Amino acid sequence: MHKDETEGQIERLQQFFEIISKPARGKTCEAIQGIISEGEEIIEEFKDSVALDAGLISSAQAVEHYEISRYGTLKSWAAQLGYTDAVALFDANLQEELATDQKLTDLGEMSANPKGAKKKVA
Ligand SMILES: [Fe+2]
Repeated sequence: MHKDETEGQIERLQQFFEIISKPARGKTCEAIQGIISEGEEIIEEFKDSVALDAGLISSAQAVEHYEISRYGTLKSWAAQLGYTDAVALFDANLQEELATDQKLTDLGEMSANPKGAKKKVA
């Protein structure tokens, strides 16, 4: 589901570049590459453990937290620079990332860490 949302987020980013009349272009994010590498290490280390799902969820949440940080910053910058249409675009992406993070928290507490469901973290 979040993969489909991400496609929509890319479309919103393309709309932003249209607003500022600049060409959209991709760039490798070293921070995300590092989180992916960390996830690969978790897979290798916990591949035979019941803790694997919890570890993978933690990696997925690290990605979401990074995205939340970036969209929050972009939303603020857009507001400060007077790009009101862009504020809505970045906020839409931000809300999807926040919702995904919450779903991952719920999944981690309810499925991957059954004992965590009994001791829900406030
Ligand atoms: Fe995301």
